[in-house]
Amino acid sequence: MNTKFETITFEVKDGFGVLTINREKSLNALNSLVHIELRDCLSVLKDNDLKLRGMILTGAGEKAFIAGADIVEMSEMTSDEAYDFATLGQENTLLMEELPFPIIACVNGFALGGGCEMAMSCDFIYATESAVFGQPEVKLGLIPGFGGTQRLSKLIGRARAKEVMYTGRNILIDEAKEVGLVVKVFKTKEEMISGAMETLKKISFNSPLAVGLAKHVMNAGNDLTNVEGLEIEARQFGEIFGSEDMKEGTTAFVEKRKPVFTGK
Ligand code: CAA
Repeated sequence: MNTKFETITFEVKDGFGVLTINREKSLNALNSLVHIELRDCLSVLKDNDLKLRGMILTGAGEKAFIAGADIVEMSEMTSDEAYDFATLGQENTLLMEELPFPIIACVNGFALGGGCEMAMSCDFIYATESAVFGQPEVKLGLIPGFGGTQRLSKLIGRARAKEVMYTGRNILIDEAKEVGLVVKVFKTKEEMISGAMETLKKISFNSPLAVGLAKHVMNAGNDLTNVEGLEIEARQFGEIFGSEDMKEGTTAFVEKRKPVFTGK
């Protein structure tokens, strides 16, 4: 992959990807170029030729994960351009949901507007005590455009999501943890990144095929009725019985040894 990006960095550490939004001076605000580069990067990762077993999404510096979509750029946009901008941002949120391995958002500082939306598109969120979430778009005379109107309700419940969105208020770390937006809290960014790496490592002992499929089925079920979701689950449950990983996992249990998964 071309890893020479201007506004993001992508590196591989111990078999895990680390994707960083890298516009520290603007608190990692998401302009069109960030989204174009993210799309380039995520599209390549979709085929997983690098055989990644997980990824971290974070922001450069100590102050912000992502302080939202770039307000300076948006202030000049026409309706058509804003539609294209939202569509591009949404495409990246969907690409993250489609990647065949888990993604942990590592949030320190501000995760506002588009930042909160990007974090919510990851599989789950780790954060430091300094994290500040929110969808303050109405304060700017606009609404969320990268999925916030849809994903926040699913994560924290519709009534609370509406109260947060209509007031534009911040969600601080205690509330974020309490309502299930954040799974784990750390003191420093460094501790958070190594905690996330630890979790990805633990996950990587399991069948990558099964983890990827669990992600796919859980995300697919999000938009479906219970009955439709269960049908997809049963179908994928059946399919995975044809895999080498399933044979290895069940055989290892019977033979009382640790499984060695290949992802096939
Ligand atoms: N877009 C563009 N630039 C931003 C930005 C954003 N979302 N957030 C911060 N910046 C820039 C500031 O303009 C400032 O730049 P200069 O040094 O050139 O003036 C720099 O980052 C540092 O920011 P502040 O000086 O404002 O830092 P602070 O500590 O005083 O405040 C903050 C931090 C509370 C996060 C404040 O910057 C802020 O309110 N930012 C905007 C947050 C926001 O409203 N986000 C939602 C955007 S709308 C959206 O995201 C729509 C969507 O869903 C698609």
